[in-house]
Amino acid sequence: MSQQTPGTTATQAPQGDAFENLSQENRRFAPSAGFAANAVVTSADYAEADADRPAFWAKQARELLSWSKDFTQALDWSNPPFAKWFVGGEVNAAYNALDRHVEAGNGDRVAIYFEGEPGDTRTYTYAQLTEEVKKAANAFESLGVAKGDRVAVYLPMIPEAVITLLACARIGAIHSVVFGGFSAEALRSRIDDAEAKLVVTADGTYRRGKPSALKPAVDEALAHDGHTVQNVVVVKRNGQDVDWHEGRDHWWADTVGAASAEHTAVGHDSEHPLFILYTSGTTGKPKGILHTTGGYLTQGAYTHKAVFDLHPETDVYWCTADVGWITGHSYVAYAPLINGATQVMYEGTPDSPHQGRWWEIVEKYKVSILYTAPTAIRTFMKWGKEIPAKSDLSSIRVLGSVGEPINPEAWMWYREVIGADSGRKSIPAPIVDTWWQTETGAQMIAPLPGVTATKPGSAQVPLPGIAVDVVDELGESVPNGSGGYLVIREPWPAMLRGIWGDPERFKETYWSRFETMYFAGDGAKKDEDGDIWLLGRVDDVMNVSGHRLSTAEIESALVSHPAVAEAAVVGAADETTGQAVVAFVILRGDAVDSGDAIVAELRNHVGKEIGPIAKPKTILVVPELPKTRSGKIMRRLLKDVAEGREVGDATTLADNTVMAQIAHSLKK
Ligand code: WTA
Repeated sequence: MSQQTPGTTATQAPQGDAFENLSQENRRFAPSAGFAANAVVTSADYAEADADRPAFWAKQARELLSWSKDFTQALDWSNPPFAKWFVGGEVNAAYNALDRHVEAGNGDRVAIYFEGEPGDTRTYTYAQLTEEVKKAANAFESLGVAKGDRVAVYLPMIPEAVITLLACARIGAIHSVVFGGFSAEALRSRIDDAEAKLVVTADGTYRRGKPSALKPAVDEALAHDGHTVQNVVVVKRNGQDVDWHEGRDHWWADTVGAASAEHTAVGHDSEHPLFILYTSGTTGKPKGILHTTGGYLTQGAYTHKAVFDLHPETDVYWCTADVGWITGHSYVAYAPLINGATQVMYEGTPDSPHQGRWWEIVEKYKVSILYTAPTAIRTFMKWGKEIPAKSDLSSIRVLGSVGEPINPEAWMWYREVIGADSGRKSIPAPIVDTWWQTETGAQMIAPLPGVTATKPGSAQVPLPGIAVDVVDELGESVPNGSGGYLVIREPWPAMLRGIWGDPERFKETYWSRFETMYFAGDGAKKDEDGDIWLLGRVDDVMNVSGHRLSTAEIESALVSHPAVAEAAVVGAADETTGQAVVAFVILRGDAVDSGDAIVAELRNHVGKEIGPIAKPKTILVVPELPKTRSGKIMRRLLKDVAEGREVGDATTLADNTVMAQIAHSLKK
């Protein structure tokens, strides 16, 4: 999810008549009376937060976390854009995620149901997970890791990933997770930038039924002189042979396994750095987004409770994001455990060993809250609704979406096929579309499932205590029915505190476009009700004959056609119109590629959905779309194809044969 982040200054925003043709979404799904009656958060939170934003967050901080030293001030904004939240307070993230639940008598509650790709399983209660984290904390300390040191983490989706993060947090070490799908080179640059002292990795993992390696990338990343890494801890996951560097490398089982399970957590300053997470902008080297402790944990815990209507005693929560991305940090490693939830963690791909794996997992663990990305939903649509229909999905009561705009078609499919268990459930689960970023640390815009009447495709409303707006070029708030730039007007608890080692870049990237507001890099519109629709990154916005068009919206229109499974739209340079809309589409399994006829039909369909101006000039039917390992479509590569250039750097693609497949299919 992290390939598209702010970084470039936008040159154009969707505004004015670009929105003329947007159809107003009239479907509304109000919460059922039963759901609303049992909801953990009511509309009172909006009013309370509006009355006094810092006081609202201070209340949440005290209610949701146990502070070893209370704070004296909710917010210090005397030196913008550098915020301090919960000033003077001390808190330990791991104690809050673990020990206190055991102390409260919930040690036997399941914290993690782990499902390995080959089918192996492990269950950790809160008591067991606490013990593992204490051991890991002792082991890391015995390897010389102290408060403030950086620990690079290069692990698959296995419980040791969560254990490692919490062990770092416990001792005040700053973790820097590098997604397991990144290359050795990407790992090297991140290790070097953060000057990591320790690396935690695994021999490998499983991918689509086959063992795949991780340790060789670490060895390669450390193959140069002058790096700062002293030790490497290696989890044995798939038993592959690994090169061993005596003295530097240590098996997890020997170090963590042998360590003492006694470890006292001390409070760290509320503003003590918790982690760095690198995210790539469109240009330049990846930015190390820095998050600190008290505010991050508070907003994570509040949003996890409010947006998912969490009832920790009874819910089984499953967030499908990898811990290598911000969603896996905030909504796998931290917030669910802070809130005492029971969660599922799955190692592998959705189609291993078959396309029904996720739904079997939902049935097996009776998952009640599912949080995933639109790209996954559209993939399942492509595979067909018969597949989820084979499993009992009746346990699901809340569905979440994150990472990209969810088109109304996918939203409705999610509701009907997953949320209503293919029609077997009379009251479908509410869908919460959550907008946020690596930089925001936690959810910012989302419906509250017991309060908001949801609308297919819209993230709708800023959460209580969050001041989001849509503004024009000059930073003026736009009226309902218009579009512009998404900004955040007031500091929020989980906001990034900077870019590791580069305070100027932090100001320049996020706070220079509109001086006193955070510029998110996304285009958005307010509909007639004032609900917010995310329109994709402003760097993906096209300008066709002076009309501004959103790639996301045209994609949504294309995908709403029954023949289309997935679509990606780019703006290609055009002599006459400035830019022209070029669409790449994957047809559904059962749709026949009838060549020109389907292309003409799809053009007309887009014309009908949005307006003639949005009709793609070219539609190319392709077998696959280039996606990063986190599922983001790499439009840059498609733009290269559309503009007839040699395709640029494709190293971050999940499947590096995709561009060749596309080239081949276009030759035919
Ligand atoms: C996009 C992921 C529309 C957006 C948590 C943002 C979304 C970028 C949504 C951040 C959503 C995320 N609707 N767009 N619900 N959620 N985005 O840093 O463009 O990986 O700026 O964080 O994803 O991606 P990141």
